Amino acid sequence: MFGKIAEILGMKRGDELLEPLDLSILKTDVHSHFIPGIDDGAQTMEDSLTLIKGMEAFGYKKVVTTPHVMSDYYRNTPEIILKGRDDVQEALEKDGIQVEIEAAAEYYLDVDLMPKVKSKELLTFGDNYVLFELPFMSEPPGLADLVFEMQLAGYKPVLAHPERYAFWHMSFEKYQEWFDKGVILQLNINSITGHYSPEVKKVSKQLIDAGLIQLLGSDCHHDRHLGLMEHAIQHAPLHQLVKSGALLNDRL
Ligand SMILES: [Fe+2]
Repeated sequence: MFGKIAEILGMKRGDELLEPLDLSILKTDVHSHFIPGIDDGAQTMEDSLTLIKGMEAFGYKKVVTTPHVMSDYYRNTPEIILKGRDDVQEALEKDGIQVEIEAAAEYYLDVDLMPKVKSKELLTFGDNYVLFELPFMSEPPGLADLVFEMQLAGYKPVLAHPERYAFWHMSFEKYQEWFDKGVILQLNINSITGHYSPEVKKVSKQLIDAGLIQLLGSDCHHDRHLGLMEHAIQHAPLHQLVKSGALLNDRL
């Protein structure tokens, strides 16, 4: 029995499961795809409401939703995203759902990102935070320049799910380097379950132990992610992180 479930959840013997964590301690989630029909997250308003109700049940009071902005697939502009946010807000109010929704974006590092940084047209949350993600294949050569230009423009770069970039799994010192350069590292909650891969899970634990994670995000796209989160919140490293005081979520 343990074997099959463990295999599905990417667990090893010795992985300790605790009482489910009450995420109200975090207050705010910083990474999700809840605006209907503009990326690979919620497709209808009904999806959006179901997902946000799920977040409320975990204890969240606020979600910063972050639709993909990607030249090849999702050409979302601030206008599209903010209009979508207003529509979701209105639907939440009609449904009596108390969760507050704010919108930013998850910017993919491609050729169109640097011009947007320089013209300061990025959507931010909190203290001028900008969520961005990298290609999964290899470390992009323009990363250092991008981080520099973001900081020059007054943005605080937040790297989405650093634990998922396999090209850094064998060079853990890279995480410390980006952290030291002022890049805020945002861990995905479900990474701790082994959902993405056993390596992602291992690196997640290492990042938590090293004190390098400052934001925690659901990266929720659909209800399967919510289901996985029910398991994730029983994992000891996540408890350790949430109780460490290192996270900025509750200040947003
Ligand atoms: Fe995402």
